[in-house]
Amino acid sequence: MYKTNNYVPTDKMSDLICGNYTLLQVMSRFDLSLGFGDQTVQEVCRANGVDCKTFLAVVNFITEENNRMADEMQDLSIHALMNYLKQAHHYFLDFQLPTIRRKLIEAIDCSVQNEVAFLILKFFDAYVAEVRKHMDYEDMNVFTYVENLVAGNRESGFRISQFARRHDQIDAKLKELKNIIIKYYPAGGNDYLLNAVLFDIFSCEQDLASHCRVEDYLFVPAVLRLEKEVK
Ligand SMILES: [Fe+2]
Ligand SMILES: [Fe+2]
Repeated sequence: MYKTNNYVPTDKMSDLICGNYTLLQVMSRFDLSLGFGDQTVQEVCRANGVDCKTFLAVVNFITEENNRMADEMQDLSIHALMNYLKQAHHYFLDFQLPTIRRKLIEAIDCSVQNEVAFLILKFFDAYVAEVRKHMDYEDMNVFTYVENLVAGNRESGFRISQFARRHDQIDAKLKELKNIIIKYYPAGGNDYLLNAVLFDIFSCEQDLASHCRVEDYLFVPAVLRLEKEVK
């Protein structure tokens, strides 16, 4: 279903999106909106002041589904990449996860005594708290450190390798929640609503996993290079 060869600056933006609709998320996290007509990737990026190379690096990394570091990833804009990651945090915490919670409440029957429904919500809330902690740490500590580094300031004792070592996956628990619903949710609920929220959970899980991969394989190496430059 997905186009696997690398996208280039002269490709039409609409071909990118139609080739893989999950790239809609990447676009909006780079502050690119719809309505670009027949413009190429390069033209859309230029019109919006977005670093085209960094945008395409993320696009190609996500669509290739492997962890290979390409040569062209050498001079990425750390600023653009960090902005992309920040926007993703905002999306997960303030939009996607609250939407899933709302849909869960709608889909599972909370009116009668339903042990599984109660457990699902409790599990979900604990999970969201964990994701928030993970992303707040990145926003407040890691990104602040990198912003200082970009400004040429390397005074703090922190190094990006410390973050890389303890950077854990945050999609695993969502997989667990999905399995609880699939395997144990008692029959009699609204299947349409339940399926709709499961689709959201599947896609959120994938989105979170690829977010973490971008941090591990694009962001961390870019910061490591910058650390070497800023002595
Ligand atoms: Fe993150
Ligand atoms: Fe992360």
